[in-house]
Amino acid sequence: MGETTHSMAPPVLRVGLIGNGTVGAAFASALEASHDRLSQRLGVRVRLTQAAVRTPDRHRDALPGIRVHDDAAALAADTSVDIVVEASGDPGAAGWLRRAIARGAAAVSANKLAIASDRPLLDALARRHPLLHCEGAVAGALPIVRALRDSLDGEEIHDLRGVLNGTTTYILTRLERGDRFADALAAAREAGFAEGDPASDLSGQDAAAKLAILATLAWRRAVTLADVPTRGIDAHIVDVVRVAGAHGCRVRLVAEAWEDDGLQLRVEPKILEAGDPLARAEEVINVVAVQSALAGPLTWYGAGAGGRHTASALLGDVLTAARALVGTHTGRIAA
Ligand SMILES: NC(=O)c1ccc[n+]([C@@H]2O[C@H](COP(=O)([O-])OP(=O)(O)OC[C@H]3O[C@@H](n4cnc5c(N)ncnc54)[C@H](OP(=O)(O)O)[C@@H]3O)[C@@H](O)[C@H]2O)c1
Repeated sequence: MGETTHSMAPPVLRVGLIGNGTVGAAFASALEASHDRLSQRLGVRVRLTQAAVRTPDRHRDALPGIRVHDDAAALAADTSVDIVVEASGDPGAAGWLRRAIARGAAAVSANKLAIASDRPLLDALARRHPLLHCEGAVAGALPIVRALRDSLDGEEIHDLRGVLNGTTTYILTRLERGDRFADALAAAREAGFAEGDPASDLSGQDAAAKLAILATLAWRRAVTLADVPTRGIDAHIVDVVRVAGAHGCRVRLVAEAWEDDGLQLRVEPKILEAGDPLARAEEVINVVAVQSALAGPLTWYGAGAGGRHTASALLGDVLTAARALVGTHTGRIAA
């Protein structure tokens, strides 16, 4: 840990942030705004001390008092950083996360594609490694990673289904209202949902990466992005949406995993009946439904993307990581 615990002031945990874009910047300002509240809750202070981005000069004004540079690998290896928060989207980020954990720091990441492509990180997730957290990588603010990792840890999961990609849901919602595919995609871009290059959303890769992470946690063995048979959406989906709508149904890009003589996985557009909980996914809303042996059917519903929503997940992960690093300060309970 960065500062000595012998002084009267609460000790400090130092956070290094990789990426200061939509998610990283929202996290940095949420951490700054909630510093005092979090210090009280934790008994330690959590401070952002450095940030790595591609173009440091563009970010220095927004991060006063913080060392800003362009070397993410050095940040991950820097022993003065206790918690690495990664929100870069760089496909090579897994190496940084592994490096941080290997030296005893905690790693918090929103980068689903990096995690879902890296078997050692997936193995660590399957084993519930206390220093690896990725709530923000799946379904934004929905607490589905922690639910599978902790709350349902004693359970046998039968099946898991989700609408996990906001861009395709946004486009499908617009098609239901009569938009052409190109206009719906343009509207998704304008609303800030679709990337400049929305290929990973439209191809289903984004949803498949999220499914790989959830299946890894639910079935406790590494499921990689490459293990998920995936089909996305293109302009041909317009006719399916119209026919489904005429029968009171909706089309959504559904990610599913279930046990049937081994673990089955799939991402594809599906026609959903109106009563299906997944049919409630609209615009940027994600839905996840899990069926397990004891709990029965459970459903999560809420904002699956956006800087502030994902920052909420990252903050929760930082607190969990902080407690793992400093131990619990729960005190005694009178008998
Ligand atoms: N946006 C969402 O709603 C959302 C929700 C959940 C999860 N996520 C995930 O969160 C991650 C970040 O998404 P975002 O939307 O915040 O992306 P973004 O707005 O494009 O920001 C990416 C940031 O990472 C920096 N960066 C990229 N490559 C880097 C590298 N090699 N070294 C150092 N810094 C690097 C960029 O630096 P420059 O600014 O200098 O270019 C930028 O600050 C992605 O993995 C994404 O899948 C996003």
